[in-house]
Amino acid sequence: VTNSELLVVRANATHVDQLREIRLLALRDEPDAYGSTFEETSRYASAQWLQMASQWNYYLAFRGEEVVGMASGGRYDQFRDARWLYGMFVRSDVRGSGVAQQLVARVAQWARQEPVSTLGLHVTVSLPRARAFYQRLGFVDTGRPAPMDRDKRLSLQMMTTDLSTNERI
Ligand SMILES: CC(C)(COP(=O)(O)OP(=O)(O)OC[C@H]1O[C@@H](n2cnc3c(N)ncnc32)[C@H](O)[C@@H]1OP(=O)(O)O)[C@@H](O)C(=O)NCCC(=O)NCCS
Repeated sequence: VTNSELLVVRANATHVDQLREIRLLALRDEPDAYGSTFEETSRYASAQWLQMASQWNYYLAFRGEEVVGMASGGRYDQFRDARWLYGMFVRSDVRGSGVAQQLVARVAQWARQEPVSTLGLHVTVSLPRARAFYQRLGFVDTGRPAPMDRDKRLSLQMMTTDLSTNERI
């Protein structure tokens, strides 16, 4: 897979089916990575998918017609001067392609326009690939790992980056 075949777009109302497909795949493929579950998400009504695609700030990665990745940007209540990266996923056969970095860069571009200078995220500590990826992009551990609300057996590390000096995203 080369970068030229991969395209990142901001989701809109026309992407309902693709958003559902990639989100459910992510929850099935890497359940420990997310605050919601496949079980609850698979019961969402179509109106909810439409709202997510059209009003939430989702970015989708495509290889041709196929959706292969996602990320979204939003707020995090406990850190109001920052914006937060959520829902990061790239299909396993497209990992290592650079498209994950493109997705984060789109969320960073949005956050800079908000405008804020901090982008943060939570990553499950048992996912070394995701942690290595975020470190490479300039995110640093902030505070100590804490249990995930949904499942206290999982531990989340907060990571942040200063967008005013980060030249990688
Ligand atoms: C996290 C994710 C989006 C990153 O995308 P990606 O295409 O895999 O990322 P990259 O290949 O560019 O970078 C991953 C890095 O981890 C390294 N890596 C791979 N496997 C690893 C492992 N088991 N342990 C440590 N590092 C590992 C890679 O070598 C690479 O580092 P490098 O570029 O310095 O060599 C993708 O792996 C994914 O969707 N994972 C499942 C869902 C997930 O964990 N999401 C995060 C939610 S917070």
